[in-house]
Amino acid sequence: MRGYILEEEKPFAKRIAIDGPAGSGKSTIAKRIAEILGYLYFDTGVMYRAVTLAAIDQGVDINNEEEVTSIAQLVNIDIQPARIEDGRAFTVLLDHEDVTWKIRSPEVEAFVSQVSAYSGVRQAMTIRQREIGLRNNVVMAGRDIGTVVLPEADLKVYLDASVEERARRRYQESLSRGEETSYEEVLNSMRTRDYVDSTRDHAPLRAAEDATVIDTTYMDIEEVVRKVFELVIGTVPKS
Ligand code: DC
Repeated sequence: MRGYILEEEKPFAKRIAIDGPAGSGKSTIAKRIAEILGYLYFDTGVMYRAVTLAAIDQGVDINNEEEVTSIAQLVNIDIQPARIEDGRAFTVLLDHEDVTWKIRSPEVEAFVSQVSAYSGVRQAMTIRQREIGLRNNVVMAGRDIGTVVLPEADLKVYLDASVEERARRRYQESLSRGEETSYEEVLNSMRTRDYVDSTRDHAPLRAAEDATVIDTTYMDIEEVVRKVFELVIGTVPKS
C-alpha cells in the first residue's frame, strides 16, 4: 500500500498518536501502520533512553535532576532511517554515535523511568517531538503523545495488555537478542516501570479522554494492526 497515498489526497488521519505501557505493542503497531500509510514512524521512548545513556556515560548521578536536565537540554539526538540490517527499525545517534542497541541495555532500562519523570527533561524532549509531529504525517508512539505532545492528533489509540503478557513479550525479545535474563526479572522491572511512569507528576502514562483503548492481551499483532488501520481510515483529519 506504500506510495499509493499522495500527500494531498489523505482523507483520513494524518497525525496518529499511539500510547501505552512497555510491551503493549505500541512500537510494533506504530511502525506497521506508518509503513502501510507511508508516514513517518517516530518512537519517542528512544529520546528518553538516549538522555539516560548520555547521563550514565558521563558519570552523572541519576538522582541529580539539575545535571540530568542540563544533559537533556544540550545533547544531540538524531533519529535516521536504518541503513544497517540487524533488525533495527531506525538508527539512533547520540552526539553522532550510533547507540541504537545501547539504549536497550538493562542499565538504561533501570534508570529511564526516573530520568523521564524529570520535568525539565520532558520539556526539552516534548518541544523536539512536537516539532517533528507538526511537520510530518506521522505515527508517534509514546506515553503522553495524545495527552501532551500532540493533543491535536487526528487519531489517538491507547494500547494496553496485562503486565504478565507484556513481560512475556519483552522476555521473548531479550531472549532473541541473546541477553541473559529471567522472566521474573523482566516482570519485576516492568512492574516498577509501570508504577513510576503512571504516578509521576508530569505527563503521567494515561489514556487521553478521546483515545480508543485496545486491550491486546489476547490479540496477535495482525489483529491489532487491522483494528488500528480500521480506526485510521474511519477518521477524518482535523486540518
Ligand atoms: O517506550 P519505551 O520503553 O522505549 O520508553 C522508555 C521510557 O521512556 C519509559 O519508561 C517511559 C518514558 N517515555 C515517556 O515518559 N514518554 C514518552 N513519550 C515515551 C517514553
